[in-house]
Amino acid sequence: MAGKVLVIGSSGQIGTELVEALRALKGNENVIASDIREPQIEQTGPFEILDILNKVQLLEIVEKYNIKEIYLLAALLSATAEKNPAFGWDLNMNSLFNVLDLAKEKIIDKIFWPSSIAVFGPTTPQQNTPQYTIMEPTTVYGISKQAGERWCEYYFNKYDVDVRSIRYPGLIGYKSLPGGGTTDYAVDIFHKALKKESLECFLSEDTTLPMMYMSDAIKATIGIMEANGPSIKIRSSYNIAGVSFSPKEITHEIQKSIPDFNITYKPDYRQEIADSWPQSIDDNHAKLDWNWSPDYDLTKLSNTMLENLKLALPQEK
Ligand code: NAD
Ligand code: SER
Repeated sequence: MAGKVLVIGSSGQIGTELVEALRALKGNENVIASDIREPQIEQTGPFEILDILNKVQLLEIVEKYNIKEIYLLAALLSATAEKNPAFGWDLNMNSLFNVLDLAKEKIIDKIFWPSSIAVFGPTTPQQNTPQYTIMEPTTVYGISKQAGERWCEYYFNKYDVDVRSIRYPGLIGYKSLPGGGTTDYAVDIFHKALKKESLECFLSEDTTLPMMYMSDAIKATIGIMEANGPSIKIRSSYNIAGVSFSPKEITHEIQKSIPDFNITYKPDYRQEIADSWPQSIDDNHAKLDWNWSPDYDLTKLSNTMLENLKLALPQEK
């Protein structure tokens, strides 16, 4: 491989699984994991401690490994960013500029940067939310993602930067824990059900949100990055959809396997965030442009989580 791949924010929920998938595809030594904190799992390839806000350190690592592609995952998520808006804005925006500028200077060739369903707001149509629609996000996280999308498109148009992006829904996987989002209950619910504990959910029972099983998210991420350049017609960010469900619906699904599982509801500040987001997403552009399609519906997602987490749980500390 001529140039190597750097994943920034690799110790987080997505990075943990993305690094594993990229190493399987490109070879362990060709994928450099990096984060401001140590990884959650044992590494099969290089790992570097990196603060993405430190441009000098970033360039050193890029040069050391001859990096040509960057997956930028470091960010503050929706709930955490609301608690520290100034730092959420600083991290989410300046991390992106630091990476976009490497491509503008032709030091690297290609960037993946994730956006989110949080770019939409209370004035957006909530059902089957179109690719192009009203976007008035009300969280600092959503504002940073919307601004990030505009900057990605700008760098593509003005500086020919090959940056690719998708708007992830809430992601659910068993190999890593979520990092402070509004959709985190949908991972916690499986842990609680298997530990025979009840869940006090911070969203109300009928709060429907777009969600996705992690394998589908990884498939979309690698899919858009491996697609031919001309097929990527949207350089802001693509809508992608998996499944939509409410806490009540996923509880019913889990109860098919664990009938005693119990959930109670105590909505907090995250309810207002969830209420401002879409309930379902129209992802036709991603399907048409780069052949995106998800593999997991609610039943498959729930069964896969329960089966795999059951094996993983005894190893939890
Ligand atoms: P996460 O919080 O689990 O992981 C983020 C990682 O970034 C953490 O390991 C953290 O230590 C690291 N990090 C924080 N500050 C850093 C810094 N200064 N330098 C280097 N690393 C730093 O988040 P995630 O769920 O894996 O999300 C990754 C990306 O995907 C984010 O941009 C997020 O907005 C986006 N996204 C995630 C979801 C989801 O449901 N997980 C949904 C939509 C979008
Ligand atoms: N899952 C993410 C969050 O809740 C969506 O971007 O913040």
